[in-house]
Amino acid sequence: MSAFSLLDDAPLEGRNTFRVAARANLLADVREAEGLAELMAVPGVAQQPLLVLGEGSNILFAGDAPGLVLSIAGSRIEQVEDLGEAVRIEAQAGMPWNDLLLWTLGRGLAGLENLARIPGSVGAAPIQNIGAYGTEAGEFIAAVQAWDREQGRLRRIERADCSFGYRDSLFKREAGRWIVTAVEFLLPRRHALRLDYAGVREELAAMRIEHPRPSHVAEAIGRIRSRKLPDPLMIGNAGSFFKNPVVSREAAESLQRSHPALPVFPSGSEAERKLSAAWLIEAGGWKGHREGDAGVSAQHALVLVNHGRARGAQILDLAQRIAQDVHARFGVALEPEPTIVGARWQPPG
Ligand code: EPU
Repeated sequence: MSAFSLLDDAPLEGRNTFRVAARANLLADVREAEGLAELMAVPGVAQQPLLVLGEGSNILFAGDAPGLVLSIAGSRIEQVEDLGEAVRIEAQAGMPWNDLLLWTLGRGLAGLENLARIPGSVGAAPIQNIGAYGTEAGEFIAAVQAWDREQGRLRRIERADCSFGYRDSLFKREAGRWIVTAVEFLLPRRHALRLDYAGVREELAAMRIEHPRPSHVAEAIGRIRSRKLPDPLMIGNAGSFFKNPVVSREAAESLQRSHPALPVFPSGSEAERKLSAAWLIEAGGWKGHREGDAGVSAQHALVLVNHGRARGAQILDLAQRIAQDVHARFGVALEPEPTIVGARWQPPG
């Protein structure tokens, strides 16, 4: 069997959780990392602009994908080394994120529990450094294995060189250069559970768990997520459409004086604060708003949805107007979180 399949002018509707129609100039499905060298040697392929697609859960096709869309399928997982207090594991890029999480919890490994039920593949996790409920994947990633298109070879990038930030990494900043093929994690057997994010302790109490283990925390977070966030299997969406904006501490304090209900979170830097984008959007009356089949979820103001047959360009247009409105009301520039294909985001203002 060939190491990959390559299709011309292929449909992408079934490959993005917004479920919008779009086409790829070329679509490659690669079975294992080893097939990449062979694919890149096909005449004309290496020169194409590249888009790597996992489960398509963090992407908006506002138009067609002009070059090569590539999906990598391998989903093996293995323990690489037992260090006593922690264990190194390696998972291939094509594995669903939540399957990895359940595998680790099943072996008594901690760390990833707060990231339960995040849609998407393991290979996508380091790209935007997925995060939820006070944890980011990058904290537990030891190294990322990726095909480097500049050098035309597989490389291993240590965590310190991955430039992880809030929904950010080297692989996101240099999109088009890297094809993540596997992720190595270093997971502790015991660690202090992070239960301080709003709602987590309450959920554990409702489950009557007094002494939570990591698997209980994952279960509690799964329950919160399924209540708060619309399920992409039921209604097209890509999770949070906007990042929570990071502004100077002074700007956050000034906004809070005029809007005392605005939730403000630490940003990791003393000089800056993170604001709740959902609150800013809801304050403008957008929550539950619908224009044709494009809309804002009635469950969570940060999630844009496709009620049926919306085009990606309609969803993007709605997002632009939301960002303009938030900017006009609060002077804060929202930025999209998913990758946008086929159009350029216009910063508001
Ligand atoms: N809020 C509103 N209106 C809403 C929803 C929320 O005003 O419709 C306010 C509430 O006051 C709430 C606050 O916003 O206390 C924070 O809401 P939430 O806990 O849902 O978190 P978030 O900041 O909106 C972020 C991530 C989510 C992640 C949650 C939980 C980003 C862009 N989003 O959302 O990640 O699940 O925290 O950690 O950082 C994703 O990236 O796709 C995603 C869903």
